[in-house]
Amino acid sequence: MNFAKVSAVAIALALGMNAGSAFAASDGEKVFKKCKACHTVKKGGKHKSGPNLFGIVGRKAGTTDFKRYKALKKSDITWSVDNLDKWLANPKKFIGKKTSMSLKLKKESDRKAVIAYLKSFK
Ligand code: HEC
Repeated sequence: MNFAKVSAVAIALALGMNAGSAFAASDGEKVFKKCKACHTVKKGGKHKSGPNLFGIVGRKAGTTDFKRYKALKKSDITWSVDNLDKWLANPKKFIGKKTSMSLKLKKESDRKAVIAYLKSFK
């Protein structure tokens, strides 16, 4: 067994996986600057024109005590990573015209990064 070859393959695999799946929460923190006008994400943070987002990943939509939910109030959606991705790409397309969130994140890498960031608050 050629040891050097084996470890080279192992390194290549590790690098490959990194390129595909690692979106650092720190990149997401930068993207989150676009959300800060309307959202806080820390535990116990206040609602602004949008609800506090602490613990959002895995939670049912529209279930904080934020008073101004529009489309999300009776939506029966759970914020899986996949649903968050669709929502952030285009809120109106995802939930309907009634929603009061208008910002769209067009870049997939921005969406992935900001979701990783949100996930770290739980
Ligand atoms: C201009 C204000 C505004 C900006 C900017 C904004 N949002 Fe929102 N967001 C809202 C509003 C308002 C709602 C509630 C929408 C509704 O009920 O229709 C909301 C809802 C949400 C929800 C669902 C909350 C829940 O409790 O179900 C998530 C997740 C979310 N926003 C993430 C983001 C992220 C991430 C960004 C930045 C990329 C962002 N928002 C930018 C206003 C904003």
